[in-house]
Amino acid sequence: MAILVAGGAGYIGSHVCKLLHKRGFSVVVYDSLIHGYRSFAKWGEFVQGDIGDAECLSLVFTRFKIDVVMHFCAFIEVGESVAEPEKYYKNNVQNTITLLEQMRKHGVNKFIFSSTAAVYGMPERMPIAEEDRKAPINPYGKSKLMVEQILEDYAQAYDFRSIRFRYFNAAGADPDAEIGEAHVPETHLIPLILDAALGRRESIKVFGTDYDTKDGTCVRDYIHVNDLADAHIRGAEYLLDGGQTSYFNLGSGSDFTVREMLETVRRVTGRDFKVVEIERRPGDPPYLIASSDKAQKILDWKPGFSLEDIVRTAWVWQKCLADKTLT
Ligand SMILES: NC(=O)c1ccc[n+]([C@@H]2O[C@H](COP(=O)([O-])OP(=O)(O)OC[C@H]3O[C@@H](n4cnc5c(N)ncnc54)[C@H](O)[C@@H]3O)[C@@H](O)[C@H]2O)c1
Repeated sequence: MAILVAGGAGYIGSHVCKLLHKRGFSVVVYDSLIHGYRSFAKWGEFVQGDIGDAECLSLVFTRFKIDVVMHFCAFIEVGESVAEPEKYYKNNVQNTITLLEQMRKHGVNKFIFSSTAAVYGMPERMPIAEEDRKAPINPYGKSKLMVEQILEDYAQAYDFRSIRFRYFNAAGADPDAEIGEAHVPETHLIPLILDAALGRRESIKVFGTDYDTKDGTCVRDYIHVNDLADAHIRGAEYLLDGGQTSYFNLGSGSDFTVREMLETVRRVTGRDFKVVEIERRPGDPPYLIASSDKAQKILDWKPGFSLEDIVRTAWVWQKCLADKTLT
């Protein structure tokens, strides 16, 4: 079976490619490298192209017989999406439609989409279940929800089946440290703390210490990137076995505060760093915890990595990163 991994040179996509390859799938990575790395695309064929480029996509679908498309391409910075919404709607929505249309034109009808917990906005209850209210509060989350709705309509109108995976906080790295998280700019908590532990960042900022949580800081659900990769393979198998269009939360169900994360990093790395506590950041919900019961039940998926594993693998990767320039 051949899988086209759009955005396969990025953080999550590259981990999925490695696991797909290991499990015997043929992989074609399609990435513009706007935020990805050529060196991350080492499993399967690589095509440099933009998903907004219908002609290039058409050539790829003609050359390779693709069974399933996994779509990781997106702009992902919430703050930037507020400042430059057009950029987000164009890449995350308009370009996704171009990809979907090329798939249909070439008779490819199975699709896995990277959605996000951001579609829930400020959730009303925890843990969050898939049917809970969707009310994204920024253009990034809205762009993802729009694609989700498009996929529902495609399922109604066409012979087209898809899965939307709503990831919670993707974290950790390949245990062999071949690939890992390297966003520019980095906005995710764990790499930022690890950078502080490595002395490459003067301090780590904690936004808000007066939330109604166990220690006053925000609570998040961290899921190892290889657990996400495993879910994608199960998703592909589900669609290949005739499974219908569906959507799943992907989280570990864990509830770690920012302060607990800081403590875990100190313990795993054996290093201390400066922490600066400042006021809350607008739009940060106090809790974001997934119920992933549906994925467990339907896809037989279960996260296998602990928070310690997440921090340990990310730490090994972050130390490797210090010695090399990614290309
Ligand atoms: N990282 C997280 O915690 C997280 C959480 C929820 C959802 N997601 C979603 O998961 C997906 C992957 O996230 P990531 O952290 O791996 O991001 P990433 O930036 O590392 O990877 C995205 C990849 O897509 C490529 N890309 C972007 N636009 C493109 C285009 N128009 N054409 C071709 N390639 C393009 C980039 O070059 C990059 O390699 C995104 O859709 C993101 O919204 C991520």
